[in-house]
Amino acid sequence: MRGLVALMRSPASVVAASSKSRRLTSTAISPSKPAPLSDPFEAAHVDLLLSPNSPFHRRTTILKTCTSTQEILRTQLPPAPAVLAAEVQTKGHGRPGKPWLSENPLGLWVSILLEVPSSQLPLLSLLASLAAADAVRALTQLEPALKWPNDLLLKNRKLAGVLVETISRLNQPPLALLGLGLNLHHQTDDFPPELKDSAISLFQASRQRIPRSQMLAAFLENLTRRLDQPTPEAMEDWRQACFQLGRTLSIRVGTTILTGTAETLDDSGHLHLRLPDGSLQKIASGETDFPA
Ligand code: BTN
Repeated sequence: MRGLVALMRSPASVVAASSKSRRLTSTAISPSKPAPLSDPFEAAHVDLLLSPNSPFHRRTTILKTCTSTQEILRTQLPPAPAVLAAEVQTKGHGRPGKPWLSENPLGLWVSILLEVPSSQLPLLSLLASLAAADAVRALTQLEPALKWPNDLLLKNRKLAGVLVETISRLNQPPLALLGLGLNLHHQTDDFPPELKDSAISLFQASRQRIPRSQMLAAFLENLTRRLDQPTPEAMEDWRQACFQLGRTLSIRVGTTILTGTAETLDDSGHLHLRLPDGSLQKIASGETDFPA
């Protein structure tokens, strides 16, 4: 906690950041000759881009390096809401416990400590995926497809993933730890061989360099909006963006793999899977095959 507070910026540094912000416009890059990467990432700039009444205003800390932003928030437990991003993570992880490659400053690696009503907790991963897709659309005009329960895809490759973990508290609802990993600036050789065909960055998909601070601010703005939106409306947007509905899917739930047709996603976030024997399974969470 003390470490995080020490890293918060003073109002003076927020003002000073405004001149730097001119360097942070998105630029179309020629495919043949990519510009050298320069993407300064500063909390003060994120604050300048947020609406003044945002609950995330002046809540962001950016570290040069850390193990995992999820783990730092979990152990330091600053007051919620708190936003912690890192240029580099040495032990980033995804769901469930898989490594998340983030030992480079090429993406947005961020965690948010949030207090949400218990009833909203099961939907948080879906709402955050929508917010990340909103941010990508707003900044690039690209329309990511959503892969239940937590992935954003472009060109059938993974652009981003959302991870929601919880922190139990005595006599209070759990806190949510919401992690987002979004590939921004990678080129083919920046991914390890095993991910080259299944992962994609926004630069690869759009030839645009979207600054991390701009993406983070757009994500936080849209997350605020999605958390306030009536659930049926948000879930209808999810159904529209989810490419899996109507398709045959294999889903791993614990140690069981279920294969069937994805009929719909209900307003509780459960995927309805019709099995070959005609029965319907309503699945709260699981891992779906990749690529689908
Ligand atoms: C997934 O697709 O499995 C979710 C990936 C989540 C990665 C992010 S990066 C920031 C935060 N810190 C972590 O260690 N993980 C999340």
